[in-house]
This record gives sequence, structure tokens and C-alpha cells, in this order.
Amino acid sequence: MGMLRSLPLLTLQALLLFPFPGNTSPQYHRSVELNQRQTASCTNSATDRSCWGDYDLSTNYYDTVPDTGVTREYWLEVTNTTLAPDGVERIVLAINGTLPGPTIEADWGDTVVVHLTNSLTNNGSSFHFHGVRQNLTVQNDGVPSVTQCPVGPGDTYTYTWRATQYGSSWYHSHYSLQAWDGVFGGIKINGPATANYDTDLGHLFIQDWSHVTASSQFIFDETSGPPTQDTGLINGTNVWETSGAYFEQTFVSGTSYRLRIVNVAIDTFFKFSIDNHTMTVIAMDFVPIEPFETTILSMGNAQRYDIIVNASEPVGNYWMRAIPQVTCSANDNVDGILGIIRYETSTADPTTSGYAYADSCDDMPMSSLVPYLALNVGSETIEEDLEVTVGADNATGFIYWYVAGSSMDLDWSNPTLLQVEDGITGFGAEENIYEVTEAGSWTYVILEQTTGRRIRFIFTVSHDYYVLAQGTGTYASAAPTLQTTNPPRRDVAMLPPEGYLVIAFLSDNPGTWLMHCHIGWHQSLGLDLQFVEQYDLIGGLIDNSTMSETCGNWESYLSLSDLKQDDDGV
Ligand SMILES: *[C@@H]1O[C@H](CO)[C@@H](O)[C@H](O)[C@H]1NC(C)=O
Ligand SMILES: *[C@@H]1O[C@H](CO)[C@@H](O)[C@H](O)[C@H]1NC(C)=O
Ligand SMILES: *[C@@H]1O[C@H](CO)[C@@H](O)[C@H](O)[C@H]1NC(C)=O
Ligand SMILES: *[C@@H]1O[C@H](CO)[C@@H](O)[C@H](O)[C@H]1NC(C)=O
Ligand SMILES: *[C@@H]1O[C@H](CO)[C@@H](O)[C@H](O)[C@H]1NC(C)=O
Ligand SMILES: *[C@@H]1O[C@H](CO)[C@@H](O)[C@H](O)[C@H]1NC(C)=O
Ligand SMILES: *[C@@H]1O[C@H](CO)[C@@H](O)[C@H](O)[C@H]1NC(C)=O
Ligand SMILES: *[C@@H]1O[C@H](CO)[C@@H](O)[C@H](O)[C@H]1NC(C)=O
Ligand SMILES: *[C@@H]1O[C@H](CO)[C@@H](O)[C@H](O)[C@H]1NC(C)=O
Repeated sequence: MGMLRSLPLLTLQALLLFPFPGNTSPQYHRSVELNQRQTASCTNSATDRSCWGDYDLSTNYYDTVPDTGVTREYWLEVTNTTLAPDGVERIVLAINGTLPGPTIEADWGDTVVVHLTNSLTNNGSSFHFHGVRQNLTVQNDGVPSVTQCPVGPGDTYTYTWRATQYGSSWYHSHYSLQAWDGVFGGIKINGPATANYDTDLGHLFIQDWSHVTASSQFIFDETSGPPTQDTGLINGTNVWETSGAYFEQTFVSGTSYRLRIVNVAIDTFFKFSIDNHTMTVIAMDFVPIEPFETTILSMGNAQRYDIIVNASEPVGNYWMRAIPQVTCSANDNVDGILGIIRYETSTADPTTSGYAYADSCDDMPMSSLVPYLALNVGSETIEEDLEVTVGADNATGFIYWYVAGSSMDLDWSNPTLLQVEDGITGFGAEENIYEVTEAGSWTYVILEQTTGRRIRFIFTVSHDYYVLAQGTGTYASAAPTLQTTNPPRRDVAMLPPEGYLVIAFLSDNPGTWLMHCHIGWHQSLGLDLQFVEQYDLIGGLIDNSTMSETCGNWESYLSLSDLKQDDDGV
């Protein structure tokens, strides 16, 4: 991999220098069956999901991770294709030609290597592994303009990271609106769980969908809100008028199933339910929780909930529903984003009715979201009180989003990490950079808005954050009590309209980390900020040759194309 700068950590050096074989090798370096090699103190099974060999649910995974010595390797290609997920053909930018793309699967503690080949003709690309901690591997975070230049057409980029957490997530392109034109897939990290189940059915993606590309709906005049989406998909499929097919899952009576629900929408807040069934929720994002039961799950963009459903109802057919909440997300097919659970071979459509719900875009209540591994928040070292606003840019007339008065605007060809490598410290105001210097310090971030809009904030990759308070009114007038004793810990939370969200994170991972609204339109229109954490230690983590090679290839592509950066770079 060429010249490396001095690396303080042997493990990291080993990761970067490990010579990965080409595409002819088998998928895995060693033939180790996933989930099958816990020989030590206990074996994870349908009747004991809490154990994991020498580790278990009470292991503090921020400190301790199984040393499996196993590497899982994937070769994935981003292509421009035509698909008809609901029977209506349109251009889809897909990973290996499918929507959703292939699932990246590993066991807790494995090393994951992903080779991205960009076979598009006229877009850059990247893979961001949502919520993955990237422990001392910031350059593998996959955010163009922040941790790398975009991967140019024809170029290949290799991401390497350790699965220090376990549970469910997704990976997606972080280039422009590409994720919402189809460039995404699941991440499944096997580990213990807080309740027992028989069968893991894997991911269940819920999303909004239009019959034209997301990129063609950008830039719009956001004064009257984001563009209305035509419909939605459940795990990449749905019915539109008389075409397409519903997602179907067969249940065997008496069996319990785990589903990993992920909201991959560009804009839509969903309520998810299965008629006549109660769900047991066992994880939020990458964090196992004390199980709780519900009939309706509220899900903002990029949030995940792992659920267990018992096949305990009378034999029959039941609708599964993903219902856009029109309070914050307009959709032309609100009652038609459906899937089917079948207990029998009948092919009839279900006739069941949905649970009653109140249309709203509120997160599940904080009191329901109790992390199993109980951790408390230390007293604050740094406080950032950031107001989010929206308004027309005086020069262009376009609507942009602002954090503390500044709409983020980065340059694809000059990522923050490259600037740190070059020793630059005077960042521009439009880079929206906040610095966290001290290891072990706690940063409290108060986000507030007086606009009536719904905003979903996420903190990409390096940190699960702690949700200390969430509510309506200004932070000063509401003066909420901050929950610092085992608060919900996750990587996406809602900032309510005319409200506030208070989060905290521990400085424990040097890097340049993007935090942003996960509504695609907002992400592209400036509703983002960056934390530069422990600046002095970042330089030693950078693989300079990969950085300059990717940027060089990107620059040569740009110089030959008429492509202009029309968004904020992420
Ligand atoms: C993070 O990386 C450092 C350096 O390799 C290592 O010492 C530490 O154990 C890692 N943390 C986790 C949770 O794996
Ligand atoms: C994806 O496609 C590539 C060829 O472009 C192939 O080598 C690889 O095995 C495929 N990966 C998966 C997970 O399907
Ligand atoms: C995808 O293909 C269409 C039609 O061939 C083309 O217009 C479009 O620019 C391509 N998009 C990308 C990102 O390559
Ligand atoms: C990506 O490609 C689409 C065509 O598929 C084009 O409309 C869009 O402008 C391109 N976006 C960027 C940011 O390159
Ligand atoms: C949804 O699609 C993903 C990716 O193809 C697959 O791994 C998963 O099993 C599917 N979910 C269900 C419930 O079938
Ligand atoms: C589903 O629940 C409703 C309301 O309790 C009940 O009327 C209906 O019979 C149930 N449907 C089936 C198929 O069990
Ligand atoms: C599902 O079945 C298990 C095992 O019988 C039981 O403990 C659990 O309460 C059931 N869950 C629901 C939501 O009924
Ligand atoms: C636009 O100009 C007005 C009047 O000078 C000013 O108050 C406002 O802050 C400007 N807006 C932006 C987004 O710069
Ligand atoms: C990184 O590599 C580039 C290209 O080889 C070189 O020009 C630059 O000086 C290097 N930067 C550092 C900080 O080593």
C-alpha cells in the first residue's frame, strides 16, 4: 500500500499493511462459519441469546472486543442500472445490481475489508458504514470532503475496520444523494441479544421512493417543503397500481423471528407495524436495550430497531405496514407501503386492519430506550449551543440550512482529513468545524430550532452519543433536567420542531467526524457540522498514499468532465 507515515499503534499498522488478495480469493480469509465458533464458556443459541463465548451482554464493548483474528472481505461494485422495484422502471444506482445491495456480515470482533469499485460514468462514490465506530480508523469513514476525496469513476477504494460493536446497521454512499438512488446495503454484526428468538430473518429496509431519481429532484425550492415522494418500498419491493409485488415472509406457528428494521428513507419518518402482532424491541441503532413491547415503532431516517415477533396469531395473512407520518413527510401512497406475513400457502391479500396511531414524528419515548449495558455521562467539559435555521441565500435565492448561522460548504477535492495531514489549523467558517481537544472530555451539544421543521441529527461513525434531553420550546425556557444516568445511547435522534435535543459524547477517538441531518435534502443543503477530535493525534493515523492517490484520480476525472459541485460536498 505504499508509504505510511509513522504509526504509533502496531495493530493499526498491521491492518494497513496486510496484503489483501484480489477478487479470485474466497470471500473469507479463513473458513470459519459465521456465528459458529464460540467454544468457550457458553454457546449462543435459540434458548440463550445473551451469551457469546467468553463474552456476553454485559461486556463493555467500548473497551473490550473479542479477538477473533478473522477478516471478512467483500468486493462490491457501484453501477448505473435500470430496475423496477415496484414494477415501474427507473434508473437505479445500485451495489452489485441489486436494491438493497449485498449485506456485509461479520461476527463481533472481526476485521471487515470492503473494496468499492465505482463503475458509474459520471458520479463519484464512497461507502460510509453508518454507526460503525472506526476506532482509530477515521480514514475508513467514507465521507467525501471530510475523510477522503470521492472515489472517481473507474477507481477502487479499500475500507478496513474492526467490528467493535454488534447489531444492525447499513452502509451507503455518502456522495451527494446517491444513497437514495440505491447505493446502500445492510451491515449485520453477530453478537449476543437481550431476548431469545428462534430465527434471524436479517434486515428489513423501509424507505420512501419516487419514479424519478433523487438527483433529478435536487435542487428544489424548499420554501414549500421537500418534494413529495411517490410511494415507498419494503425491502426493495412494493406494488404500484397493478404492477410490482409485495414483500412476503412466511411464519411457522410457534416460531419467534428477529427482524432488523432500518429506515433508509431520504425524507420519511415512518410508523412500522404488523397487524395483530406485538413486537419486542431488543436494540436501537447499535445498542442492545432492555426489551420492551410495542405494536407500533416510530422510526426517523437512518434509525434502526431490532425486533422479535412471535408467530402466535391464528393461521392467516397479515399486513405489515410502513406508514409515512404526514406531519413531517409528504407521500402520495401513505396507506400503500405494505408487506405480507403469511402463516399458510394462501396467496390472497390480507384483509386485516392496522393499529390506530396518531400521526407524529416523535422518537420512541426516552423512557422506553434503556441500554442494557448501563453507562453514565460525565460532567461537561465543552458545551456547544447551536441553533438550526433555514433561509434563502441572498446571492442565489436558494434555500439553505444553517448551523449557528453557517451553512456547511466543503470542497470534494480538499477533505478535512487532508487539511489536517497538511497541518492546516485555520479552517474556513463554512466548514462548520468544532474542535474537541482533550481525550476523556465530554462535549454536550444543545441543538435548537424555532422552525417548524423535523430534523434528524446523526453523528456518523465514531461515536454513539447519549441523548440527555429532547422536547419542545427553547432550551432556556424549557430548562430540562438532563438525564445523565444511563440515558438512551444511539447514533440518530430527532430534533423536534420548535424544540431542542441535547446530546453528549466522550472524546475517545481522534478524527474528523461529520454530524448532520440525515434527511438527504438537508444533508446536501448545509445542515451539517464537523468535530475535529484530538487534532494532534490525527496525522499519525493517515495513510498519505491512499489519500493522495484517491484525490489524484478524482482530480483527473473532474478535469475531464463538466461536472460542477452543486451541493455542500457530503
Ligand atoms: C481501539 O484501538 C486501540 C488501538 O488499536 C486498542 O487499544 C483498543 O482496544 C481499541 N478499542 C476497542 C474497543 O477495540
Ligand atoms: C459483487 O460483484 C463483484 C463483481 O463486480 C463480485 O466479485 C463479488 O463477489 C460480488 N459480491 C457480492 C457480495 O455479491
Ligand atoms: C446513468 O445512466 C443514465 C442513462 O444512461 C445517464 O443519463 C446518467 O448520467 C448515468 N448516471 C450516472 C451517475 O452514471
Ligand atoms: C450524479 O449523476 C446524475 C445522473 O445520474 C446527475 O444528475 C447528477 O448531477 C450527478 N451528481 C453529482 C453530484 O455528480
Ligand atoms: C431483505 O433484503 C436483504 C438484502 O437482500 C436480505 O438480507 C434480508 O434477508 C431480507 N429480509 C427479509 C426479511 O427477507
Ligand atoms: C386481528 O385483530 C382484530 C382486533 O383485535 C380482530 O378483530 C381480528 O379478528 C384479528 N384478525 C385475525 C386474522 O386474527
Ligand atoms: C413471545 O414468546 C416468548 C416465548 O414464549 C414470550 O416470552 C414473549 O412474551 C412473547 N412475546 C410477545 C410479544 O407476546
Ligand atoms: C440576507 O440579508 C439579510 C439582510 O441583509 C440578512 O439579515 C440575512 O442574514 C442574510 N441572510 C443570509 C442567509 O445570509
Ligand atoms: C503526502 O503525499 C504527497 C504525494 O506523495 C506529498 O506531496 C505530500 O507532501 C505528503 N504529505 C505529507 C504530510 O507527508
